[in-house]
Amino acid sequence: MKQISANHLDDDSPGKFKPEKPHLINRFRHHYPYLAKLTVWTFLFLGLILVLFFQSPPNSSYSSPISSDPSRRSLKTRSWGGPVWEKRVKSSARIRSRTGVSVLVTGAAGFVGTHVSVALKRRGDGVLGLDNFNDYYDPSLKRARQALLERTGIYVVEGDINDAALLKKLFELITFSHVVHLAAQAGVRYAMVNPGSYVNSNVAGFVNLLEACKNANPQPAVVWASSSSVYGLNTKVPFSEKDRTDQPASLYAATKKAGEEIAHTYNHIYGLSLTGLRFFTVYGPWGRPDMAYFFFTRDILKGKTVPVFEGANHGTVARDFTYIDDIVKGCLGALDTAEKSTGSGGKKRGPAQLRVFNLGNTSPVPVSSLVGILERLLKVKAKRVVMKLPRNGDVPFTHANISLARRELGYKPTTDLQTGLKKFVRWYLSYYGSSRKSDQ
Ligand SMILES: NC(=O)c1ccc[n+]([C@@H]2O[C@H](COP(=O)([O-])OP(=O)(O)OC[C@H]3O[C@@H](n4cnc5c(N)ncnc54)[C@H](O)[C@@H]3O)[C@@H](O)[C@H]2O)c1
Repeated sequence: MKQISANHLDDDSPGKFKPEKPHLINRFRHHYPYLAKLTVWTFLFLGLILVLFFQSPPNSSYSSPISSDPSRRSLKTRSWGGPVWEKRVKSSARIRSRTGVSVLVTGAAGFVGTHVSVALKRRGDGVLGLDNFNDYYDPSLKRARQALLERTGIYVVEGDINDAALLKKLFELITFSHVVHLAAQAGVRYAMVNPGSYVNSNVAGFVNLLEACKNANPQPAVVWASSSSVYGLNTKVPFSEKDRTDQPASLYAATKKAGEEIAHTYNHIYGLSLTGLRFFTVYGPWGRPDMAYFFFTRDILKGKTVPVFEGANHGTVARDFTYIDDIVKGCLGALDTAEKSTGSGGKKRGPAQLRVFNLGNTSPVPVSSLVGILERLLKVKAKRVVMKLPRNGDVPFTHANISLARRELGYKPTTDLQTGLKKFVRWYLSYYGSSRKSDQ
């Protein structure tokens, strides 16, 4: 070892002794002192990143035992957990009335989820929301609904139903007596663009959620959204729960039908109490921008053409439009009549309830009449273009027989299309009237 003169040192501690460096490195440091410094710092920086990466807690990343859908922006890494987060979760789920129950609402920032969550909260139930805020339609509308929910005291956990670790954590923190499962990839036509998102949310996500429910102790009763679309090419009207549902006309319908079969399995094997609700074209304030009544309103106001579809041989295309408040009453009726699950410790202890109900309005309205009502409410004449109904998954008509829901849930829709659309238009004009734009 020999003393190295101060000017050979690259630190600011002259006079210190340092071990002699190998010849090449010394030359390198001598000729490129700044580059050498840079190299050292680069290695230090990379090392720090590696350490942070391996130390990050497992619950900060999205993980699915079943599948993932990397095409969706919503599935980016999310973080949850920690004392502040747990406090918010517990406070939101706290029951506020003597007869209240504790409910996890998936898809809470969605159209139906927002309305159902508020209704539950208002009557004193504990409500915790879960939503991945995906970008299937304008996420700012979901954020605005979230703000509304927060004002009502409902916290919406930002996460995916495919995240098994997150669900496990939520069930550890809260003893949910009920789950209202509304999270899904909705819409019929989008399946041609992103089929994987339907499988991911409506099949894999549903299984993941049912796994969490089955493992919970006690198991919650589950009320979940199926769809009128399961009737597919069925021609017998009105559609009754006993009718065939094995001819789906879209991938969306096929995944909802798969959900009904999966529900049967979890009921049969694990004793989960499961109620499927077949919603018929739900509309109303805070609705979904991908639905006809919503984008017709936008396009009529903008002076754009409005496609009025007709079926084969100039047949009428009609929908059993159902107002959101009626659907909410049906959901609460299903929740209040749901029996307890019978399983525990992941094992069935006895037969459990398994139900399916139509929730419709029982009065189908032709799409041309829908446009007429909107014209009158908006006081603007629509530029109609009559077009053939494309074969991309839409069915020519829907019509619900609701006798079963009336009998067992006390379900009785009371809002006609004219009245419901008036409320929708009032909301639309106040929401988009000012600075916001509805053209996303
Ligand atoms: N609105 C209707 O006319 C209608 C008709 C039949 C059935 N349904 C069903 O009712 C339910 C609610 O529909 P909506 O109209 O409120 O739709 P929506 O798209 O407004 O709500 C669904 C919500 O679920 C969330 N979500 C989707 N995938 C998720 C995932 N993997 N993890 C967590 N969150 C996820 C979305 O971000 C969205 O906020 C859906 O299951 C839908 O299929 C709706």
